Amino acid sequence: MVEKARLRVLRGNKDGGDFENYEVETYPGMVVLDAIHEVQAKNAPDLAVRWNCKAGRCGSCSAEINGKPKLLCMTRMSHYPADEPITVTPMRAFPVIRDLVTDVSWNFKVAKKVPPFAPRPRDKDGHYRMQQMDIDRVQEFRKCIECFLCQNVCHVIRDHQKKEEFAGPRFLIHLATLDMHPLDTLDRKDMIKEEFGVGLCNITKCCTEVCPEHIHITDNAIIPLKERVADDRYDPVRWLLRKVGTKDERRKATSKDTGPKRPSETAARVSTSKEPS
Ligand code: SF4
Ligand code: SF4
Ligand code: FES
Repeated sequence: MVEKARLRVLRGNKDGGDFENYEVETYPGMVVLDAIHEVQAKNAPDLAVRWNCKAGRCGSCSAEINGKPKLLCMTRMSHYPADEPITVTPMRAFPVIRDLVTDVSWNFKVAKKVPPFAPRPRDKDGHYRMQQMDIDRVQEFRKCIECFLCQNVCHVIRDHQKKEEFAGPRFLIHLATLDMHPLDTLDRKDMIKEEFGVGLCNITKCCTEVCPEHIHITDNAIIPLKERVADDRYDPVRWLLRKVGTKDERRKATSKDTGPKRPSETAARVSTSKEPS
């Protein structure tokens, strides 16, 4: 027997919109993006949706399903009760362009403000050396697909619209990646505090809950970043050394790498021909 599902899709643009109801035939393994494509093919060819890979890799198909931020291509129809309509709406934190497509360009503007990776010179033999634990620590953050679901759910952006004062979880991850990177030489802590507003995050962990890559955004990036900024800016000894210490003392006081180290670890050669990032 052919099974059917009901979809309620918010259609409209920046001036407003309304829900339209559609019925689609379902099949095993069908995802919500497939259902939207069915609607486009059979009922509403002008229904706008952004997508690209259909494999959870490009981060384009972000939207809200029954009010929860999700990737449309990674959410199975079978996840929802067959006898209830499935509501699909655009991300709420960003301006709607049309139907399910939102204008996420604010995120790209924030990205441009982050000073890029600035590695120290290579060792005398032409190699870079890093501790394996330093690599492991930032590896998780590199899984980000820039879907901006975490940005969408963060109440600082979504409810309080503090887009000028706060970079959002995606970019706090990026800043944490740079700050924890053992080869990077730039100190961005003043910017992280003042311009990117790390203090506005009250570690509710909503961002972590919606991340399709299961990055521990709050525990592994934002909280350590807050601690690093606090250590650097509010520890009286570090503050004094930064102000009046010798060059070597100042360097130690502003050292980027304040994370714990395991003494048993040996240095690992990780790059010979490629610039690390
Ligand atoms: S933990 Fe911080 S960044 Fe994440 S959603 Fe909550 S306030 Fe926003
Ligand atoms: S951190 Fe997770 S939720 Fe945020 S943009 Fe990256 S992949 Fe998406
Ligand atoms: S279409 Fe690429 S993540 Fe969904």
